[in-house]
Amino acid sequence: MTITTPNSGRIRAKDRVLPHPPYRLPVLGDVWDLHVTDSSQWGMRGAQKYGDIYERNIFGARVTYVSSPELLREINDDAKWAKFLGIPIRDLRTVARDGLFTAHNSEPNWAKAHAILAPSFTAPAMRSYHATMRECAAELIEHWDGRAGEWIDIPSDTNKVALEVIGRTGFGYSFDSFDRTDEHPIVAAMLRALTYINRAAYSHPVLERTVFREQRAQHLADVEFVNREVDAIIARRRSEGAGGHEDLLERMLTAEDPETGEPLDAQNIRHQILTFLAAGHETSAGVMAFALHYLSVNPEIADRARAEIDQVWTGEELRSEEVAKLRYVRRVVDESLRLWPTAPGYFRKANADTMLGGEYPFEKGEWVFIVLLQLHRHRLWGDDPEAFDPDRFLPERVRARHPELYRPFGVGMRACIGRQFAYHEIVLVLATMLRNYDLEPDPNYRLKVKETITLKPDQLRLRVTRRG
Ligand code: HEM
Repeated sequence: MTITTPNSGRIRAKDRVLPHPPYRLPVLGDVWDLHVTDSSQWGMRGAQKYGDIYERNIFGARVTYVSSPELLREINDDAKWAKFLGIPIRDLRTVARDGLFTAHNSEPNWAKAHAILAPSFTAPAMRSYHATMRECAAELIEHWDGRAGEWIDIPSDTNKVALEVIGRTGFGYSFDSFDRTDEHPIVAAMLRALTYINRAAYSHPVLERTVFREQRAQHLADVEFVNREVDAIIARRRSEGAGGHEDLLERMLTAEDPETGEPLDAQNIRHQILTFLAAGHETSAGVMAFALHYLSVNPEIADRARAEIDQVWTGEELRSEEVAKLRYVRRVVDESLRLWPTAPGYFRKANADTMLGGEYPFEKGEWVFIVLLQLHRHRLWGDDPEAFDPDRFLPERVRARHPELYRPFGVGMRACIGRQFAYHEIVLVLATMLRNYDLEPDPNYRLKVKETITLKPDQLRLRVTRRG
């Protein structure tokens, strides 16, 4: 479909004029300005220089960066713009195929899996995962008890707890993260695969088959290994028979699509498990780690959180309904996700020719990247967007805010299905840590953010002391 506007005639991409880095070169475009290892932070810095919408041209391919809440009113509308699998998400398909995160809107397995799995991610469904999440947090505490006085590698330990949570609630599987000194083979293969995908995303197939031949062979072997292991987990569960498990795998094996009456097929179940492992592990772990950093350097915020925890958590064990009452801890999580949304952006493509914001022509299929790091630092957040202030999330301030200013879980039909799950898990783990320990920052540490596909505070370490 072609839309025409009365004054400008046909919508043509070549009429789109956007700010861009200086010194644009013929053919190469802005390639000199491409940062592969910190591309999301670079996207943010670009927005701070060139504005709420700007572009980089890489060998003729136009990458448009958007961090304007006003333009997001249009882009976040599923009727106008749809999910697009940009680099490196597209390459995750080699692992997760048509799993929920990497499926195209048009693939039938997306709607089917969404309908089957959505009931497992509602707020009430969290009650069934609560005891397992609590058990994982308790194991982390036990692990820390053995390391009093040592500097603790925080991203490594939050990764362990998040991995255990998703493994056990997802498919009744423990990776023995707190007992092992080496990495579990499935985790090691997954991490290598994700690292390869992140690097190779910006490479050329010919380079991969020549210069990076060995890495590529390792990658293919890793994907095959992970598939085999996950298939074995599913087969074991099938042989045990359905019933008795309150996890996602149980639902995947037994539930039917309410629309068609069909269950998920075996291959798709494998891809969903790999999806949950990838999408539901480092994202949550990164948020816990960023929150711990800010809590450690803002003792008054940690004290306020502890006062709330001591007031709400009255019995021996934290109960599921008490998690929802930890409103201040939740604000700490929201503020951590504002400054460092661990999934730092998402892609959308135009469903039809459109004049974005009445000003920028986009032809059908052209795409943009939403720079969450900058949207979450937009001037509408006030004078000091870098300041860590959980009270930005007080209900009255949330109500007064532009509706598109905070989107750490994406938006619309392709928004994060695991949002409630992540909040429950992160609030529970942070409350357990704060109740049991005081946090001591390393005075020499300056926050440095590492990008794989997600974000984490690089080399963050803290010393923890048991509270009396
Ligand atoms: C704080 C932690 C998390 C963050 C920041 C996060 C962020 C996101 C974002 C931004 C998207 C949308 C991407 C897009 O539009 O292209 C997404 C989708 C998704 N997330 Fe999360 N996520 C988190 C935790 C989780 C957890 C714990 C799970 C699973 C247990 C999960 C599973 C998924 C899945 C399956 C999708 C794809 C949904 C679909 O397209 O239907 N996420 N997530």
